[in-house]
Amino acid sequence: MQFASRLDNVETSAIRELFKLLGTPGIISFAGGFPDSAMFDVEGLKEASARALAEEPGGALQYGATEGYEPLRTQLSDFMKTKGVEVAPSGLIVTTGSQQALDLLGKTLISPGDKVIVEGPTFLATIQCFRLYGAHLISAPVDADGVNTERLEALIAEHRPKFVYLIPTFGNPSGAMLSLERRRKVLEMAVKYQTLVVEDDPYGDLYFGAPPPPSIMALSAEVPGSREHIVHCGSLSKVLSPGLRIGWMIGPAELLAKATMCKQFSDAHTSTFAQATAAQYLRSGRMPATLANVRQVYGERARAMGAALKREMGEAITFTQPNGGLFFWARLTGAGGKIADANVFAKRAIEQLVAFVPGAPFFAENPELATLRLSFATANVEKIDEGIARLGKAL
Ligand SMILES: Cc1ncc(COP(=O)(O)O)c(C=O)c1O
Repeated sequence: MQFASRLDNVETSAIRELFKLLGTPGIISFAGGFPDSAMFDVEGLKEASARALAEEPGGALQYGATEGYEPLRTQLSDFMKTKGVEVAPSGLIVTTGSQQALDLLGKTLISPGDKVIVEGPTFLATIQCFRLYGAHLISAPVDADGVNTERLEALIAEHRPKFVYLIPTFGNPSGAMLSLERRRKVLEMAVKYQTLVVEDDPYGDLYFGAPPPPSIMALSAEVPGSREHIVHCGSLSKVLSPGLRIGWMIGPAELLAKATMCKQFSDAHTSTFAQATAAQYLRSGRMPATLANVRQVYGERARAMGAALKREMGEAITFTQPNGGLFFWARLTGAGGKIADANVFAKRAIEQLVAFVPGAPFFAENPELATLRLSFATANVEKIDEGIARLGKAL
C-alpha cells in the first residue's frame, strides 16, 4: 500500500508491543493509563442515560450541533465556574474525548515544519498526533514542580513556536504539579511572546490532599491580556468514564470556529447520546460525591505505591510522591550496580509477572533511558504491595 507521506514521521507506540505481554496469566500491571472500571458510578450513569432517553429522546438520538449539545455546554460552563474559570456555554466546544481536542489543535494550527514546545516527558499520543501534522517538537524539561519555566522561556525566545503544550496538573507521565509561581510565569510569557499555550487538564480534579493551584486558564483572569493566548482542554474520562468520550475545549473564538469546522469533516459531532447522558449526570448533582470517591481511593493507592517503592526498591529508584493523577514517574539510579536501563528492567519485570512502562517513548527529544511510569489506578493496595515486591526482585 502507498500510504500518505505524513505517516512517515509516526510509528505505532513502542508501548503497544509491551501491552501484548500483559495478557500473561497472573501478571500485575502498572502499565495502563486507565482509570479503574470498578470505580465507575454505574448507577448514576444508568439513571442519567435513562433520563436522557425519557426527557430528550430527540436530542439524545438525533444528529446534533458540531459545537456540542447545548444542555451539556451549559453544564460544562457551570462545572468550569466551580473551578474558577468564567466561560459562557458558547465559549467552549464539546470534543470526543480531550484526545480529539488535541487532534483538532494539530489540524488547525500545525503546518509541516512548525515548531511546537512540549514537556519532556509528555503524553505519548500528543507526540504522535502533533508529528502526524508535521510538527517539529521541542522538549522543555520537567521537574517536581512541573515544567522548568526558565528553560521554557529560553526555548520560546529561541524558537518562537506555533504553540506550547503543557499538562500542568499531575501530568501524564510526569505526575508533576506546576507550582503557582510557575503558572503565573507561563501566563506572563504567553503575553510577552504572544505565544499560544495549550493547557491539557484531564487530571486536575483528581487530587489527593489539598487542591492544586488554579488552572492556567483560571489564573489568566489575574494576568491582563493573557486569556486570549490560552487554550484549555478538559475531560470526563479520568473522573467519570473514558468510554463516554466527553471532552471539551475552551479558547479564542477564532480558534474554536476553525476547530469546529474541522470537527464537521471528522465526526460531525460527539455522540449526542453520550452528551445528553453526561449533561444529565452533571445536572443530577452526583459529581461532587464521585470526585470525593475517586480522590479517596486513588489517593490511598498512591500512598501505598510510594511506601512500597521505598520499602522494596530503596536507593535503586528516585521519585516524587504525586499529589494527584494516576502516575508515578521514577528514575532508576543504578546505585549499588543495580539496573539503570528501564527497557531492560521492564523485560526482567515481566519475567517476575509485573509490568510498567519504560519512560523513553514519552520524550519527544533526548529520551532518558533510566525513567519509567507506574500507574497505581487499577490495582488495589494488596496488588500494589505484591507487584512492587516483584519489581524489587527484578532489580
Ligand atoms: C494528558 C492526557 N491528555 C489527553 C488524554 C486523552 O483523554 P480522553 O480523550 O479520554 O479525554 C489523556 C489520556 O490518557 C491524557 O493522559
